[in-house]
Amino acid sequence: MGKITIAIDGYSSTGKSTLAKRLASALNYVYVDTGAMYRAVTLFALNNEYVGVKEDIPSLVAQLSNIKLKFMPNETLGLSEMYLNGQNVEKQIRTMKVSEHVSKVATIEEVRRMLVAMQQQMGEEKGIVMDGRDIGTVVFPNAELKIFMTASPETRATRRYKELLERGEDVTFDEVLKNVQKRDRIDSTRDVSPLKKAEDAIEFDNSDMGLDEQFERIHNYTLRVI
Ligand code: C5P
Repeated sequence: MGKITIAIDGYSSTGKSTLAKRLASALNYVYVDTGAMYRAVTLFALNNEYVGVKEDIPSLVAQLSNIKLKFMPNETLGLSEMYLNGQNVEKQIRTMKVSEHVSKVATIEEVRRMLVAMQQQMGEEKGIVMDGRDIGTVVFPNAELKIFMTASPETRATRRYKELLERGEDVTFDEVLKNVQKRDRIDSTRDVSPLKKAEDAIEFDNSDMGLDEQFERIHNYTLRVI
């Protein structure tokens, strides 16, 4: 059975990563969450005060070579976690603070160039499931299977809100809904690699679908291609 590249793109909180992880584990493929990479660069920028009240994009760009990103396996949880300059930042990159700034950082051409090059290298040997916003359009335009996930903004905000509450964050549903909508707007309208469905991607609306059904359907698409 030949190994393929699977690109999963879509709007914020459509459940891309849950599905991608499960698919990667069923196929014994590598899973890469590219959102975590943009989030880690954003955390670096926030820690160094390059974004915030006053956006300081030139300073961040000048510091890009000092950002070392690495996914390392967490054997207990059976998944990979994000490390920024040697420190596990998996929890810190998922906060609302990072979510509020990440889409802005993701519009910076130099940031995208650096992360896309890393992502392409990770996928050189195929056997990979990668999720993000530009995987089927820019990172792997020749991916054998491309999925574009959508769901209503309310469904997505509800999922994200539950996740944040479980992590102990003090947020309101309204804040989360606004953040999801704002990120979608910035992601879809930016000049560099905007979020859009690749022409050959399968559109997948999971607003009214449970996790098992989503997995079964996507797994079936995969088996047709492999
Ligand atoms: O996937 P997640 O919601 O964690 O991604 C956070 C943000 O990172 C997105 O809202 C988007 O601005 C940016 N992103 C991107 N391109 C990717 C992955 C994420 O621009 N491939």
